[in-house]
Amino acid sequence: MDTIKKVAQTYLPRIFADVDIVDAEFANVIVGTFADLGRSERVGHQEGYRIFADGSQLIIAGDTEFGVLYGFYEFLKKSQQGCPLLTMEAEDQPAMEVRMINHWDNLDGSVERGYAGKSLFFDNNAWAASDEEIVQYAEMLSSIGINALTINNVNVHAKETELITEKWLPQLAKVANLFDAYHITLFLSANFASPMTLGHLQTADPLDKRVVHWWKTQVEEIYKYIPTFGGFVIKADSEHRPGPFTYGRTHAQGANMLADALKPYGGVVFWRCFVYDCLQDWRDRSTDRAKAAYEHFAPLDGTFADNVILQIKNGPMDFQVREPVSPLFGALTQTNYVMELQITQEYTGQQIDVCYLPMQWKEIWSFDTHANGEGTKIADLLSSRQQDGKGKGVTAVTNIGNNQNWTGHPFAQANLYGYGQLAWNPEQCPRKIAEEWAKRTYAHLSAEVRQTICSILKRSWSVYEAYTAPLGVGWMVNTGHHYGPNVNGYEYSPWGTYHFSDRNGLGVDRTKTGSNYISQYKQPVTELYGNVATCPDELLLFFHHVPYTHMLKSGKTVIQHIYDAHFEGVEEVEAFLEAWEGQKEAMPDGLYMHVKERFEAQLANAREWRDQVNTYYYRMSGINDERGRTIYK
Ligand code: GCU
Repeated sequence: MDTIKKVAQTYLPRIFADVDIVDAEFANVIVGTFADLGRSERVGHQEGYRIFADGSQLIIAGDTEFGVLYGFYEFLKKSQQGCPLLTMEAEDQPAMEVRMINHWDNLDGSVERGYAGKSLFFDNNAWAASDEEIVQYAEMLSSIGINALTINNVNVHAKETELITEKWLPQLAKVANLFDAYHITLFLSANFASPMTLGHLQTADPLDKRVVHWWKTQVEEIYKYIPTFGGFVIKADSEHRPGPFTYGRTHAQGANMLADALKPYGGVVFWRCFVYDCLQDWRDRSTDRAKAAYEHFAPLDGTFADNVILQIKNGPMDFQVREPVSPLFGALTQTNYVMELQITQEYTGQQIDVCYLPMQWKEIWSFDTHANGEGTKIADLLSSRQQDGKGKGVTAVTNIGNNQNWTGHPFAQANLYGYGQLAWNPEQCPRKIAEEWAKRTYAHLSAEVRQTICSILKRSWSVYEAYTAPLGVGWMVNTGHHYGPNVNGYEYSPWGTYHFSDRNGLGVDRTKTGSNYISQYKQPVTELYGNVATCPDELLLFFHHVPYTHMLKSGKTVIQHIYDAHFEGVEEVEAFLEAWEGQKEAMPDGLYMHVKERFEAQLANAREWRDQVNTYYYRMSGINDERGRTIYK
């Protein structure tokens, strides 16, 4: 109860200072578990809560302390939005069991794909955060419903491998305690080859007895220090990370060996499905990277231990601005899984360009896999509402760093907030979440400023998509860092990321005449995507290679769409900047300048995308823009 007391002591006086919401009739706010309050009601869910009036008291209660904590956060949310105590009734519980974030932090303080400063946790190969900072961070995470996290990068290099040893465990035990107090379980990314790196064995073969013994001993040690340890996140046989393939073993054999070591303590293995050939020959037209995760993992369905959870990226490629949903969702019926999203904006503007991702996630979660017939949506698969379902929830690469505002671009906070909100209740409207975030974050600013921010947020994903890669084709980015345009950057690379543009057309044929990736979906999805006439415009080039003159459902040709989208995308960013400048007088200089500078950088980026992509496709196709706008011929 200490946590809830602390949170209540911090926030209740502020709420009671707000005369508008405190009705005179209310004498008190009572916070506690039903049992502690001597009441017989129950919610029936350990993370659920109820807020209700009883005479002159407002009661915030749950079956467990954490239910109460979540109830208190809801109470805070409602009061911050001006909801009078009298009408504050609520009863709720989370839809998703796992609501996790993954830090990609390294011990030297760098953050892989981080755009908000350095690591919160590490610097110069030492622990860098004070207890107070961790408590502040834990409170922020739990207030948006996050209940698990990893603190280190999935790419576990030599020094990070030591995190599971005595060298780090005393420190991590303290950290785990601090997070536990907020109902957040600590996990670590671990190196599959740890027995070799740390244990001086010659092998990491999951069936080798010495390896099995090594992991059991190491896990025992971890639990001695951290009894509440959650388990491991593992990136194996992926982008040069070690894994079971080296020993001719399957991923199930690799994952189960670790799961076995964790089982006595209730630990879990999150095993990533981001397994593909990153040394592909671009000349090889028979290999399609999009097929890899399904080909590796669907045949193993039913062979994973109960405490293994497969971690599947939302799309079959890698966090592009637009991809179809991975066909692995709906294919697994006997294996636990979560969806992995990317909150950090690696391919979506790197927290320089604004891109409000809950719009994308809502679309992904609304996708109907048809796994159990019509109406088997991703949101249902991932939430406990699906009877006997194996979908356990969601995890995401976080966008947090040690930047003063946590996320670099202040609007990127809305992505983390929206992630937590949607994981709690995927039925929510992302537009409403944006409004709620703006109201809570910028309560001190005028309604016009908040409206300006919301209107930008709501359009931002479509705008980013418009001026970057067209119609679902993806990958026209600069290599390595992934910011800015480079149409052929990945075209002749080993990464399996091609658009196959030639003088007649572009796009990847993933139908029967091409890689036949479409056959990994259930009917009628295979038919929908496989038929050029029914494939949605926004994914057309992901599934089909079509001529520039192909007519889209929108009534435009592909080439005209490319031109229009790129011109319009830039105009939209100009409008963002103009709207922001229009609010200059209504906001503090710091916020105004900070965001303005980012909009200016975004505009330069959008112009570069527009001109490179339009010029490239004009030169390829020789077809003029119908509207005669400037293209650098
Ligand atoms: C992307 C990203 C890498 C990351 C990888 C992963 O490829 O660019 O930085 O390591 O995803 O998800 O493992």
